[in-house]
Amino acid sequence: MNIPQKKILILYHSQGGTMKLMARRFAEGAAMEENIAVTLKKAADATLEDLLGCDGIAIGSPEYFGTMAGMIKDFFDRTYELARNETIGLPYVIFVCAGNDGRQAITQIERIAAGYKWNKVQEHLRIVGHPTEKDLGDVEELGQTLAAGLDFGIF
Ligand SMILES: Cc1cc2nc3c(=O)[nH]c(=O)nc-3n(C[C@H](O)[C@H](O)[C@H](O)COP(=O)(O)O)c2cc1C
Repeated sequence: MNIPQKKILILYHSQGGTMKLMARRFAEGAAMEENIAVTLKKAADATLEDLLGCDGIAIGSPEYFGTMAGMIKDFFDRTYELARNETIGLPYVIFVCAGNDGRQAITQIERIAAGYKWNKVQEHLRIVGHPTEKDLGDVEELGQTLAAGLDFGIF
């Protein structure tokens, strides 16, 4: 009997390429779990259906001007009313890149996630400056952890 695959949506925005690099590594980590289907999407291209169809979500945002990327906020704006009653308890993780801070982007995303009543299953990851190979390894590990938790039914 085939076990239905669980799905992870990796939602990200990147202007300069740093978060794109991180989001790809997150996806590689998540894809290490065989039973997990991974969808990697820029927030601008992501739809309500992507959100309603996932079993876990990873949100990757740079901090711009002391806030999450505008396109991440736009995705929340577009989906909140239609998804908030359908995604209660959705496991989520946040990973952020920043030039020197990044904490405000995390705080804001966490507040919105609380509005959706999503379930934070791992501590956020905040990378300041250009990511080192160790940083990228941490991102990959976070992806694998989310995937494994979903696969084993822990999250
Ligand atoms: C318009 C703009 C505003 C930024 N504002 C902040 C900021 O408020 N705090 C911070 O720590 N970094 C800030 N940064 C630095 C970015 O967060 C950092 O370079 C990040 O890695 C960019 O990700 P990306 O290459 O995926 O776009 C800003 C960068 C840009 C382009």
